[in-house]
Amino acid sequence: MGKLIDKYNRRVDYLRISVTDRCNLRCVYCLPGCGIDNKSHDDLLTFEEIVRIAGIAAQMGINKVRLTGGEPLVRKNLAVLVKMVAEIEGIDEISMTTNGILLKDYAHQLKRAGLKRVNVSLDTLRGDRFKDVTRFGELRDAMEGIEAALDAGLHPVKINVLLLAGVNDDEITDFLRLTIDRPLHVRFLEFMPITGNEFWSEKRFLSCKEAMDICNRFGRVESANVSGNGPARNFRIENASGTFGFIAALTDKFCSACNRLRLTSDGHLKGCLHSDLKVNLRDPLRNGADEGILKHLIRLVVDTKPREHSLTGDFVEASEYLMSQIGG
Ligand code: GTP
Ligand code: 5AD
Ligand code: SF4
Repeated sequence: MGKLIDKYNRRVDYLRISVTDRCNLRCVYCLPGCGIDNKSHDDLLTFEEIVRIAGIAAQMGINKVRLTGGEPLVRKNLAVLVKMVAEIEGIDEISMTTNGILLKDYAHQLKRAGLKRVNVSLDTLRGDRFKDVTRFGELRDAMEGIEAALDAGLHPVKINVLLLAGVNDDEITDFLRLTIDRPLHVRFLEFMPITGNEFWSEKRFLSCKEAMDICNRFGRVESANVSGNGPARNFRIENASGTFGFIAALTDKFCSACNRLRLTSDGHLKGCLHSDLKVNLRDPLRNGADEGILKHLIRLVVDTKPREHSLTGDFVEASEYLMSQIGG
């Protein structure tokens, strides 16, 4: 297996694959209430096409894959894809980021297919708020999804909480309480100003530092290790079963350790969440490109991977894709 190193000497070994741009929720910070024009079925990569790209990327040095969306579980037969990716030589770990709504129906099946673990997005523990934030979701479905993930052994089960001042900042301690008795790993995320985001405002931004201050007042905090491939810094309340952590995309930029590429559901490969640079792999693939050409295109994305994002708290960068289309 090869090794992919970019020009800033970062090892790239993690591929995030968005399997659909569709979602069964409409989180206020992510999608407009009316939804978006979804890609047509023909635009989406087939499972075979995804596996071809992931297989070539594995030969080049990718060894971890995360399935994302939209909501990945709205794509039919996702467990079949998990099994196909699990069989690729060189891929050691497959994980998934999901809103959890459909997880209770699929957790065991996904585990059997080879999924190792899940990260579940959950911004509030209150039913009425959950409905407001997701525009119509039922908290119970997400909670049952988390239980099913624990039961199926999709460990470590992580929960992504997007920090939103005035929306869920009074629930930080409730999330900490969740980690005391259960092996749950809560991560607090800083809100990033992303294209098309009508909900973004500086007033809604809450830094990880402010959240950490609240955690420090809650109990004795110690640092912790949680297996993962992402940028989270992790802690635990002394003696707790689970942990909590922070993904501080704005105030503690982690780009210097960035290890990932992103494949959009329509087959474009991106080197950075926030950059418009992308390479179309789908059309060459469909026009019969051989392995050499595809490797060259993947290498091109690695070679042009930007050093860092230029997001600041008051600047909305233009990008052709919405968060839900790239998969976070
Ligand atoms: P683990 O392997 O479990 O550590 O996963 P992860 O943290 O890489 O995955 P997840 O999909 O749960 O990502 C959580 C959040 O981290 C995303 O929704 C983003 O908000 C943020 N994030 C992930 N990757 C990047 C990145 O490359 N740049 C920026 N700015 N934020 C990112
Ligand atoms: N900033 C930070 N995280 C975001 N997510 C969605 N939109 C944003 C944003 N603007 C998160 C979701 C989910 C993950 C895939 O991306 O909360 O956990
Ligand atoms: Fe769907 Fe996730 Fe966006 Fe919510 S944040 S609308 S669950 S893609």
